[in-house]
Amino acid sequence: MPELSDPLLFTPLTLRDVRLKNRIVISPMQQYAAGTDGAPVEHHFVHYGRLAMGGAGLVFTEALCIAPEARLTYSDLGVWHDDFIAPLARLADSMRNLGTVPGAQILHAGRKASVQRPWQGYMPLTDEDRDARDEAPWQTVGPSPLPANPGWPAPRALTEAEIADVVAAHGAAARRCREAGFEVLDIHAAHGYLIHTFLSPISNRRNDAYGGDLAGRMRLALEVAAAVRAEWPGERPLFCRLSCIDDEPGGWTLEDSVVLARELGRLGVDVIDCSSRGLGQRGTPVVAPREQGFQVPFAAHIRRETDLKTMTVGLIMEPEFAEAVLKDERADLIAIGREALFNPQWPLQASVALLGDSAYERFWQPRDAWWLEKRARSLAAAATTATDQR
Ligand SMILES: Cc1cc2nc3c(=O)[nH]c(=O)nc-3n(C[C@H](O)[C@H](O)[C@H](O)COP(=O)(O)O)c2cc1C
Repeated sequence: MPELSDPLLFTPLTLRDVRLKNRIVISPMQQYAAGTDGAPVEHHFVHYGRLAMGGAGLVFTEALCIAPEARLTYSDLGVWHDDFIAPLARLADSMRNLGTVPGAQILHAGRKASVQRPWQGYMPLTDEDRDARDEAPWQTVGPSPLPANPGWPAPRALTEAEIADVVAAHGAAARRCREAGFEVLDIHAAHGYLIHTFLSPISNRRNDAYGGDLAGRMRLALEVAAAVRAEWPGERPLFCRLSCIDDEPGGWTLEDSVVLARELGRLGVDVIDCSSRGLGQRGTPVVAPREQGFQVPFAAHIRRETDLKTMTVGLIMEPEFAEAVLKDERADLIAIGREALFNPQWPLQASVALLGDSAYERFWQPRDAWWLEKRARSLAAAATTATDQR
């Protein structure tokens, strides 16, 4: 049971009918571990299992790709076929059984598809990759034939009929995530992937209904949100990840994000998952040097300007910092990415950092808590003896 004096980080939050036991979320992180069929393998069960056991209230899977050509790499997880429902259901069930709420994210990588795994260079696939690993490049797509980075292959501009297929594929992916038993869904509309490239005037030079002014550029995002909401049960919360700014001259701005967030809210999106950048290589959130909580101001602004909840992410490592963000009402949820790769038990350890040894009994599994409390008492006794002997 929560107590009045509990840190907000460990105060439950109910979104629609889904109760999160705390406000720590594991951010979606691709594993590049799937086989070329896009199905989960043992790695995913162990990886998401240990994150679930780490104590976060909500654990997102990595981006599940809505079509084979929507993948970044040949090792991305997929959700483009009903055959994925059974293995994804096993994954969602195991995460739930291990104590977290299972969330999924859905993605079309757009013009940033067809790349090598990060440790192979993270560059567009070429004929050399086909010869070396049987990984032939494929034609990417986008709003306009503008490459993501200088020297990258240009995407093919989607026709209006193909855009309708993309919208329908997001809806079908949401249905499969529903049938697999995920309880929260995140639409990936950030980081320079397909939906983001439609939003930004830098990458979208169309002059049909899906380009031009803000309303035109937002059309795909809003159609996707509506298609997803139609398949996603009313009692389950829907998140949407935005790059709140492009950080490029003439790009997407925070005020654009506010306008979009309000529209998404009307369509039944509950939480804006506030990230930023990623349209080109420069400023990609994962690689640029940043400070703890560098994206908190975006979450705070959207939270203030809309009636939506926000999640913040980005180099959050200290429990006290995370608690201060919640206390100051700058965000409703704290998402942890790489820190959870470094320490999958970060949420549990944060509970001890903020609450002391009483956290063991309240938040840890009894099989660990029993021993760790004993250890804490021994350590405290040893410290007292050492002080007395001085
Ligand atoms: C290995 C790795 C894979 C990632 N994959 C995804 C992804 O699938 N979807 C997504 O929205 N963000 C992805 N991200 C971005 C993270 O969710 C997060 O926003 C970013 O790492 C910043 O948070 P952090 O500083 O806590 O890591 C990935 C990041 C990493 C490190």
